[in-house]
Amino acid sequence: CGIVGIVGVRPVAGRLVDALKRLEYRGYDSAGIAVIEESELVRRRAPGKLENLRICLADDPVDGVTGIAHTRWATHGVPNEANAHPHIAGDVAVVHNGIIENFAELRAELTAKGVSFSSDTDTEVVARLLDDYRSNGMAPRDAVLAMLQRVSGAFALVILFKDRPDTLFVARYGPPLAIGHGEDEMYVGSDAIALAPLATGISYLEDGDMAIIDRDGAVFCDFAGEPVRRQRQPLQLSAMLIDKGNHRHFMEKEIFDQPEVISHTLGRYCDFAAERSAVADDGIDFSKISRLTIAACGTAYLSGLIGKYWIERYARLPVEIDVASEFRYRELPISDDTLALFISQSGETADTLASLRYCKEQGAKTGALVNVTGSTIAREADAVFPILAGPEISVASTKAFTCQLALMASLALRAGRERGTLSPADEKELVHALSEVPRLMSQVLHAVQPQIEKLSRELSHFHHVLYLGRGTSFPLAMEGALKLKEITYIHAEGYAAGELKHGPIALIDENMPVIVIAPHDRFFEKTVSNMQEVAARDGKIVFITDESGARASELKTMQTIVLPDMPEFIAPMVFSLPIQLLAYHTAVFMGTDADQPRNLAKAVTVE
Ligand code: G6P
Repeated sequence: CGIVGIVGVRPVAGRLVDALKRLEYRGYDSAGIAVIEESELVRRRAPGKLENLRICLADDPVDGVTGIAHTRWATHGVPNEANAHPHIAGDVAVVHNGIIENFAELRAELTAKGVSFSSDTDTEVVARLLDDYRSNGMAPRDAVLAMLQRVSGAFALVILFKDRPDTLFVARYGPPLAIGHGEDEMYVGSDAIALAPLATGISYLEDGDMAIIDRDGAVFCDFAGEPVRRQRQPLQLSAMLIDKGNHRHFMEKEIFDQPEVISHTLGRYCDFAAERSAVADDGIDFSKISRLTIAACGTAYLSGLIGKYWIERYARLPVEIDVASEFRYRELPISDDTLALFISQSGETADTLASLRYCKEQGAKTGALVNVTGSTIAREADAVFPILAGPEISVASTKAFTCQLALMASLALRAGRERGTLSPADEKELVHALSEVPRLMSQVLHAVQPQIEKLSRELSHFHHVLYLGRGTSFPLAMEGALKLKEITYIHAEGYAAGELKHGPIALIDENMPVIVIAPHDRFFEKTVSNMQEVAARDGKIVFITDESGARASELKTMQTIVLPDMPEFIAPMVFSLPIQLLAYHTAVFMGTDADQPRNLAKAVTVE
């Protein structure tokens, strides 16, 4: 899932492992490195965490100034040493992200020619194919181009040939790849974060690009070998931004970053002096749009679901939303008055990108709500709305989620104004409410922390947890359940409170804590009735509400977490904090790795 390469003048092994460390957040289950040492390809690989690779390198060091490295998230073949990258065949070493879809066919073809394989991976066919071409006398560049004609699927590839010790061959179709420019060295990596402390400039490969990198720079061409030009941009990401400071985990830091980063997002999309949502120059006129469709995955999908409530309410615009992995196969009819929005922290999620491409082909106007502005989704959409959350390292999304909400809220108000469905007075009131979010967030973060720590100890003894909510608290209930299951491995489900009676109530007993998210809003009474139904069946209730809500309910709960009163509109942003903290502290208490939960990846660049 993470790729790094260096064409250097100094030994690279330590720096390659450090760069992999910065990519750890993407999720992985084995790691490896290959360098050219005294004209030979040498390799070290280890299953599990990077620490295992470090130990292996300490026991058996490698020396060399050009090298490639990889953290693998298993797709084909278990995460053992043999399946870890780099894969070597003869005189070529390869690291790969993505999936080679026709690997079985290529493997059969090579096997028939007498080639033998040493792993179960799809990647090894790339190395074997290249070795086969080289054995037939092809020059490295020709061999790479020939290989690119044969493979299909999704790939970011970095290739090192033994007899070209100062050169890396790279190619991209799908998963991202960035080239870093240094003083007298060149780098390649899965993202800018990997390259941050090394490079001063960065160029991104586009889909269908191949590049040859040596110490002097990079030369780009397409898969047919025709030259293409790619801009070099300054690399602005400071290594500081990706430091966890005094926090135990990035997730904790990112939770506590929220008051600050959300003020950046709101500051960009709202004019607090004029109390209006700010009009961005993005070419979208909401009064000419008759339908809005949203596609996203995971946490980003849930922020879109909350956005749907706001846009339908304030802009009276019908919104449909789907997880991108279904959206892309629905064959949704699209007209030119459809606006299609894609929400993605990374801007690289394969299904979200495929959905964007489908909508573009069908003639929809497309907008991307992304955190990584250099990402593929940002580059391909007609309009880009950066969420300005700063690098999010923890696999479980927190600050990107609330910044996505801040942006969706601002967009809903703007759409309401443009469509004439939101009066200036209402807009003023709602923008004023948004201006209170950073202050309320910081108040809540400090106020609820001790209580949540205590609660997480109790929660850690259960095997199942149900989250309930109504209105915008329903997607938040799903987000709460997602956070908990992702990082603690406790089974959790988020349900619409009104659906309780249609199924999950059968599960309620004293072993099933039910976390009810219910600010004192229009739906409060109804949700409290659902709580009564849980209480009557000995369910243990954790009640997350506000001061008015706490006063209005007399139910006995396992614990009641009380937030300050706030306008209904902004509640989803502020109520995100206790659910994030609850998942986080439960993970810490249970000893799971909150930042890198098992089996999960930060950016899912395969289908
Ligand atoms: C993965 C991550 C989630 C994220 C989802 C969508 O599952 O673990 O945290 O919400 O992908 O990612 P995106 O980058 O498109 O927002």
